[in-house]
Amino acid sequence: MKTLPTLKDAWIYIEHGIIKDYGTMANMPPHTGFKTIDCSGKTVLPAWCDSHSHIVYAGNREQEFVDRIRGLSYQEIAERGGGIVNSAKKLQQTSEEDLFEQSALRVEEVMKLGTGALEIKSGYGLTTQAELKMLRVAKRLQKEYPLTIKTTFLGAHAIPPEFKGNKDGYMDLLCNEMLPQVHKEALADYVDIFCEEGYFSVSDMERLLEAASKFNLIPKVHVNQFNSLGGIASAVKHNALSVDHLEVMTDADIDALQNMETIPVALPSCSFFLGIPYAPGRKMIDAGLPLAVATDYNPGSTPSGNMNFVVSAACIKMKLTPEEAINAATQNGAYAMGLGHSHGSITRGKVANLIITKEIPSYGYLPYAFGSNLIDTVIINGSEV
Ligand code: NIG
Ligand code: FE
Repeated sequence: MKTLPTLKDAWIYIEHGIIKDYGTMANMPPHTGFKTIDCSGKTVLPAWCDSHSHIVYAGNREQEFVDRIRGLSYQEIAERGGGIVNSAKKLQQTSEEDLFEQSALRVEEVMKLGTGALEIKSGYGLTTQAELKMLRVAKRLQKEYPLTIKTTFLGAHAIPPEFKGNKDGYMDLLCNEMLPQVHKEALADYVDIFCEEGYFSVSDMERLLEAASKFNLIPKVHVNQFNSLGGIASAVKHNALSVDHLEVMTDADIDALQNMETIPVALPSCSFFLGIPYAPGRKMIDAGLPLAVATDYNPGSTPSGNMNFVVSAACIKMKLTPEEAINAATQNGAYAMGLGHSHGSITRGKVANLIITKEIPSYGYLPYAFGSNLIDTVIINGSEV
């Protein structure tokens, strides 16, 4: 992660949406008849790979934002019927078309901010019909936009009010009705669960992941946001592709990830917005772990899909170097959504998803000048956005 390979004074050749070749200007092949973009003074990077989002949602939770400013905590708001179930109520009452329109605006926004690959979770439905509606919207976004989208079934996001005091009843619904239906319509690549006090336990997670493995759904899970419950070791045991959040990490949690295929994913914008600790990114990298960073774009804990801010926050608050933060937001983000072979770096044969910056002195200027929009052009699948 310490190394970000660069070429100065270089060209890239794109054909049919694929990076065909690159090199330095001293060795530029003849190139008449092609469309060219002059990048003098600019930097060309792989587009961001945002491996964790809840970008499909209805309405917003601006009121809870104000409640938190006035002193209520995220957990207190949830106990009063706010939080995830509040978004679920709104989403259940929103038509599939309307949900698509609301979500499409956000997808267009993040593409312009340089995101070329995006994971999208369900989890604001909490009924079979509403969960399927969310995943269908995510699939339609995949069809209608050039960015690459992976989908994750997160029915186990919260216990819906109808199942209050009957979590096992909701687990039955998840395993016996929702999972088979999601599989039947081929709506998800991954399965997720919010493993946290007041939500789902480690044994709930194990039950769900075992049921999901019968449908070939690979786990990507929410763990260690507020408490370390042992969910990381268990997710690793179930071959999770990623473990996400990680604001609260014990040494045993770090040990459980050593030499494994499971990648830790930090979500610094969530820490910023909720005022909770940041995942100990520096400590994890120093312990020899890889790290990806993602937005967590959602209406409750992170109403922002800006990967540029994530990269800045990874440097400023988690003490990653610019090289580490950019690798975490590109190559490692691609890995965390199963796209390591096709996305996340400027490599011959990979999808041509690129960011062309404005004129900046170096790539380190990107996280340094936090909050500025330093993107000039975004290319996704070989075309300018
Ligand atoms: O990743 N922590 C669980 N889920 C989301 C937030 C859900 C919400 O508040 O709407 C997250 O932060
Ligand atoms: Fe999340």
